Amino acid sequence: MQYRRLGSSGLQLSALSFGAWVTFGKQVGRGEARELLAAAYDHGINFFDNAETYANGEAERVMGDALADLRLPRDAWCVSSKVFFGSVDGPRPTQRGLSRKHVHDACHDALRRLRVDYLDLFFCHRADPDTPIAETVLAMDTLVRQGKVLYWGTSEWPAQAIREAHKVARANGLIAPTMEQPQYNLLHRQRVELEYAPLYSEYGMGTTIWSPLASGLLTGKYNAGVPQDARLAQEGYTWLQWLLQDPAERRLERARAFTDVAKQLGVAPAPLAIAWCLRNPHVSTVMLGASRTEQLLQNLEALDLVERFDDATWERLAAAAS
Ligand SMILES: NC(=O)c1ccc[n+]([C@@H]2O[C@H](COP(=O)([O-])OP(=O)(O)OC[C@H]3O[C@@H](n4cnc5c(N)ncnc54)[C@H](OP(=O)(O)O)[C@@H]3O)[C@@H](O)[C@H]2O)c1
Repeated sequence: MQYRRLGSSGLQLSALSFGAWVTFGKQVGRGEARELLAAAYDHGINFFDNAETYANGEAERVMGDALADLRLPRDAWCVSSKVFFGSVDGPRPTQRGLSRKHVHDACHDALRRLRVDYLDLFFCHRADPDTPIAETVLAMDTLVRQGKVLYWGTSEWPAQAIREAHKVARANGLIAPTMEQPQYNLLHRQRVELEYAPLYSEYGMGTTIWSPLASGLLTGKYNAGVPQDARLAQEGYTWLQWLLQDPAERRLERARAFTDVAKQLGVAPAPLAIAWCLRNPHVSTVMLGASRTEQLLQNLEALDLVERFDDATWERLAAAAS
């Protein structure tokens, strides 16, 4: 495993990390979840991502129980949660968003469900137009000073809102966000590469990037239809099939072109797509998702692929996917 600093902070996260969305508390059983976490840890992964909204808190419960059961030393791994969407169906106004109240409640609920004394990383899962940014910055600052959160960050915030958070923090001596959690993959590049470009040097922001395989499209598994056991066919997640249907984005066509080039290179498309993400120096960690241990093990091969090809080959791959 390689380790990378989370932006300008001193926290070293594994370059590949592991998240619970769709899978924990829903698609896979507790035994499989435990096996996935054990395999990840055994291969040097030290960051596990979660959120209050994943399976309405059940993903955090499953992860917390498995981590406790595995008895991994708490100082050897990091865990995150995210606040915004709430953890109940049809949340009341105080059960969602980034108000001081919900940020406080969501943190304490995550601590309980994950069975930890502190969250290493805590993200604002989206920007909240109904809460002043200054209120959220103060709420996060308070949690950090209380020792309940170590690093706080944003997820899919517009660059302008991130700037505002830094401005408020600087003006009031508060703790600023350390990291952003954006989507980044061969089919979705703009925000990380263009919109956020000035933030890395200006504020030392790190990134924990999500959906490196575009929910599986870049594995090629959807090239000839939607397999019944795959994410896009899971009950409650068929809405994700819009990924295949949006004509302007041509994602399926681009994924097919990418997998063709992978085939010519003689490598599996999944680790190749993940390796492409790892090449971006502004990516602190690529968060993997997996519904089976074999997928996770295949995806870990990305680490060896980064140096295997020259720039021209990576450009050819990116061109195929564009
Ligand atoms: N902040 C946010 O808004 C946000 C949003 C989304 C995700 N996230 C985080 O980022 C993490 C990773 O995102 P993601 O799960 O969307 O990542 P992803 O890598 O794009 O998709 C992972 C899924 O692709 C399939 N897959 C993975 N490896 C495979 C392989 N080698 N062969 C075939 N299929 C494979 C599996 O689904 P199937 O087997 O079911 O097809 C797996 O669950 C999440 O767990 C979550 O923690 C954050």
